[in-house]
Amino acid sequence: MPRAPQPVTKPQPETKPQADVKPQAEGRSRGGMKAAAAPAERKDALTITDHRTGKSYEIPIQEGTIRALDPRQTKTGPDDFGLMTYDPAFTNTASCRSRITMIDGDKGILNYRGYPIEQLAEQSTYLETAYLILFGELPTRAQYDEWVHNITHHTILHENIKKYIEGFRYDAHPMGMLVSTVAALSTFYKEASNIFDPASRRRQEYRLIAKMPTLAAFAYRYSVGQPYAYPDNELSYTANFLNMLFKMTEVKYRPHPVLERALDVLFILHADHEQNCSTNAMRSVGSSHVDPYSAVAAAVAALYGPLHGGANEMVLRMLGEIGSKERVPDYIRRVKEGQVRLMGFGHRVYKNYDPRARIIKQIADQVFEVMGPNPLLDIALELERIALQDDYFITRKLYPNVDFYSGLIYQSMKFPVEMFPVLFAIPRTVGWLAQWEEMLLDQEQKIARPRQIYTGPARRDYAPMDDRL
Ligand code: ACO
Repeated sequence: MPRAPQPVTKPQPETKPQADVKPQAEGRSRGGMKAAAAPAERKDALTITDHRTGKSYEIPIQEGTIRALDPRQTKTGPDDFGLMTYDPAFTNTASCRSRITMIDGDKGILNYRGYPIEQLAEQSTYLETAYLILFGELPTRAQYDEWVHNITHHTILHENIKKYIEGFRYDAHPMGMLVSTVAALSTFYKEASNIFDPASRRRQEYRLIAKMPTLAAFAYRYSVGQPYAYPDNELSYTANFLNMLFKMTEVKYRPHPVLERALDVLFILHADHEQNCSTNAMRSVGSSHVDPYSAVAAAVAALYGPLHGGANEMVLRMLGEIGSKERVPDYIRRVKEGQVRLMGFGHRVYKNYDPRARIIKQIADQVFEVMGPNPLLDIALELERIALQDDYFITRKLYPNVDFYSGLIYQSMKFPVEMFPVLFAIPRTVGWLAQWEEMLLDQEQKIARPRQIYTGPARRDYAPMDDRL
């Protein structure tokens, strides 16, 4: 079925870029680089000298950043493409300007739309935080009620999705099923390709946030051979998810309020984390102007990887392997000798205690009080105690990250290990959607298309097969 035609122009952005980019003049790039005249005149600039030509250039610095396009002006001659920047894995490249999530990794700060994660975890609910992330402001009572109503009334799946799920093998991984079923939704909602129609965009956002728990729960019930449990509109977002997962023969399922709240807080903590691997996938795939279901499928696929959404499972395996508190010093020795990694420790951005890990530790205590102690907790606490006073970890700024305790909580709540990344994908959907919408409305964004440094063979001629040695 052909897709609906796409608008060719973007609407005006809701917010204008703040950078004070000077108008382009001859010999300047978009960011405003020019041949250096008197660098001392301004302090917000970088002067670079190209020793191949002896020329100097002045590159504007805005918000602690230079534009990667600026060095392109440094050419050795008319045929020279100009200097590129090389940054595999984007370790020092900002791919966008964003108003959603702020992380200060050195100080261990995480804010959504300016609100500290600690305050949201303490006082907010997942759906209220989701509204904040998507719309930029906390809702009024009326806005909140309407939002909850809209999410609650989009939780049902088209019955054909069940048939689709039944096509999977009995032992299919729920993340693999989620990637496929969320992509399949795009074929049910064809108007979703009208991505520059705000009303259509909003409808798909409701649907995605509402249907992800249903897709995930149905995948789980199928994998354990249990009948599907349909959404219950009287329950909260997280209580309903628990209902669809664990309801058996009871007429009305009601989760323990401590467990419902624990999952809600875990969902708040996972709702967004700026430009991580899956968000980058969402933005990159979305930049082709594909519908949001297809882009979310790409983001879920990125999250499926063990380097991203699978680390808490590795923590559980590690704790099981250590086996007892007494064997912790020996494991630490092996970590220091480089034989193994201390899973759930260290982070690319946080060089301090991950603020989410601190909150999760408190939730763990509440969950264990209801579900009974998790025997692996003592091992985890001992690992943390020893590591935090050991020079190896102190000098490398290695602290517990979000995954160190979350697996223990999920295990105590009786989630199977395969569901751990799914429990990450559901709350992160709103983060992906907010980032996707921000990208679509950002006039500076285009289809994501990095450059490369070609290192393959130079031009050569095709040889017929019989002439090859
Ligand atoms: N255990 C032991 N040593 C570690 C660990 C660890 N968990 N993490 C980093 N180091 C050491 C490295 O060996 C390196 O030491 P060196 O300087 O002597 O070579 C130094 O600390 C820096 O480590 P990098 O690997 O360069 O740090 P990077 O930022 O690339 O990696 C990562 C971050 C992947 C998270 C890493 O810390 C790690 O593998 N942690 C364990 C896995 C984990 O918990 N992942 C979840 C992250 S949170 C999330 O994705 C939701």
